[in-house]
Amino acid sequence: MKINKKEIISKFKKKINQYKKYNELYFTKDNPAISDEKFDNLKQEILDLENQHKFLSKYGSIKTLVGSKLSGKFEKIAHKKRMLSLSNAFNLKDLEDFEKKIKNFLNLKDAIEFSFEPKIDGISASLRYENGKLLYGLSRGDGEFGENITQNLNTINEIPKNLIGSPNIIEVRGEVYIGKKDFEKIKGNFANPRNAAGGSLRQKNPKETAKIPLKFFAYGIGEIKPSILTKQSEVLEKLKKWGFQINQHCKIMKNLKEVEKTHSNLEGIRSSLDYDLDGVVLKVNNLNLQDRLGSTSNSPRWAIAYKFSSVKALSRIRNIAIQVGRTGAITPVAKIDPVTVGGVVVSNATLHNEDEIIRKDIRVGDFVTIQRAGDVIPQVLSVDKTKRNEKNKKFIFPDKCLCGFPTKKEISTSTKKVDAVRRCTRGYECQYIAREKLKHFVSKEALNIEGLGKKVVDNFWDLNLIKRPSDVFFLDYKKISKLEGWGKLSIENLRKAIDKAREISLQRFIFSIGIRHIGQENAKILANFFKNSKKFSELFYPKKRKSILENLDDLDGIGETQVRSLDSFFSNKKNCDIVKKLILSIKVKDFKKTSKSGIFSNKSIMFTGGFEKMSRSEAKALAEENGAKILGSVSKKLNCLVIGNSKPTKKKIEKAKTLKVELIYEDEWYKLLNR
Ligand code: IVH
Repeated sequence: MKINKKEIISKFKKKINQYKKYNELYFTKDNPAISDEKFDNLKQEILDLENQHKFLSKYGSIKTLVGSKLSGKFEKIAHKKRMLSLSNAFNLKDLEDFEKKIKNFLNLKDAIEFSFEPKIDGISASLRYENGKLLYGLSRGDGEFGENITQNLNTINEIPKNLIGSPNIIEVRGEVYIGKKDFEKIKGNFANPRNAAGGSLRQKNPKETAKIPLKFFAYGIGEIKPSILTKQSEVLEKLKKWGFQINQHCKIMKNLKEVEKTHSNLEGIRSSLDYDLDGVVLKVNNLNLQDRLGSTSNSPRWAIAYKFSSVKALSRIRNIAIQVGRTGAITPVAKIDPVTVGGVVVSNATLHNEDEIIRKDIRVGDFVTIQRAGDVIPQVLSVDKTKRNEKNKKFIFPDKCLCGFPTKKEISTSTKKVDAVRRCTRGYECQYIAREKLKHFVSKEALNIEGLGKKVVDNFWDLNLIKRPSDVFFLDYKKISKLEGWGKLSIENLRKAIDKAREISLQRFIFSIGIRHIGQENAKILANFFKNSKKFSELFYPKKRKSILENLDDLDGIGETQVRSLDSFFSNKKNCDIVKKLILSIKVKDFKKTSKSGIFSNKSIMFTGGFEKMSRSEAKALAEENGAKILGSVSKKLNCLVIGNSKPTKKKIEKAKTLKVELIYEDEWYKLLNR
């Protein structure tokens, strides 16, 4: 077959331009325009063209474009200790709440010492050293698994390849970055130093990485054996001794006032530093306390990111639109004249809810201040009423959902107050909610289907390719292959990602269905209770459901709100049909007990009364660490009742005695756990 050279050249040019555009979008915003798969496929298509037709080299080459992002071809390695993210604080009040929570958890009255560290805006990496030698280096990845980017990390001079006098095993964690001055020299396609660092670290060719002057600040450790350190400040000192760069602004702080002052001083000199900072990280300095505090699903309880103040800009509201979330929450969104806030173009800003609009008296046509802080959704901060046109009318909040059905403001079961948020309560019956539920279903924390991002879901929804969760497993790939942007390779990748998701843990499955008030933690508790999907399916049948829900009340963490929500979800026929069909389309794996083989392994325990040396939350976390299942009421199923010295409930003790439940008093509890 005679090849048409002209056509190939024009195809090549078009694709390379597309690639440049997406590449830039990816590095400029944190919200890439296309999925990773599509991006990689595009890259592969260009590479194929280049390899097949040597004459194309005249028209450029993808190989010379720096900043190609991860191709998905790096080997994945499990982090021995998860790489968590941090929750954010924006003001002193947030910091005080953080400290209060820590003190409550530890049941501590004494002041807490903190390690204050600049939050370098780069890319995190974890370096594993065994017997003093750098074994491998990983990217953060999804926090559980990182990508093996050793070769690229090896090009960084500030990363020592050998450590002298270090423990046998040590994982050093830190931030890879590019100095601002160096960045000016290599800028190219990149919007900022962070993106340049990320792009170079993920080059497939280490020679390309070596051309970029990457640097490294160490800020912590993962696994360490033997464990010789007791304070975060000591960690930093030792890291320095072993040859790492430690940021010079790291300090020990005795109180939050000092933190506030140093934070604002640092913000003042921020622009004179040769690296980008987006705030500071505050860590409990004592490693033993860090250990006791542990972490929630995504972030440690012992650290927080205290961001620098947010960025503001002025704009004008063109319209107020309504968005429906997956829980039916109706959120008003201001459509504003596009404005750049801190380097990002913003054209939507949240107005939170009806009360907020009334309180701030926000109207269409108003001139407003927009605020964007970190990765938080931009919001309308205030209205400049002096500039208001008298004709701007008050916004009448619709009392109907976009689906046309009336919305409700619920009354909270715990506070008995009327909720500020209006909701559509039709669940999957409302197409707007159903679409959002689908997005949740395929999201990272649920089925984790790469390549089925929000935009793709919207697209597939509009084309009637998916309407219910189970449809994901019966996609019409023929139809998809006719859509723009879907080549052979991207379809194959999508198919693979979906096939991978066909087998799912019970815990993820429960979370993915999107039952209100059932988040990741509750889904885990429920999975532990139901053990398998067969038992879980009993919720479909009213009588069985009733008795199950009565038992659920016993589970610690599951309260009236969750029980009601489960009841209302499974009382709805459509919901049941959707879940039934889903169970038939996938394989839900039985719950695997991950509980440690500790002294309470296979035992159910309950607490009554307060403890002197620890809070109830810490006691619970500790018991779970040691294999216990925590119950919330005394019944025959209970093995031990743990009784704190402060105000235990007599009735519970009496009942436990009659049921011959083992009693553990506070002193004995400490002894059992070596505390
Ligand atoms: S501590 C669980 N310390 O911030 C502890 N992180 O949002 C998390 N970062 O992924 C890490 N400077 O990339 C820590 N001094 C510092 C840091 C720092 C920058 C980054 C790091 C992390 C992200 C968390």
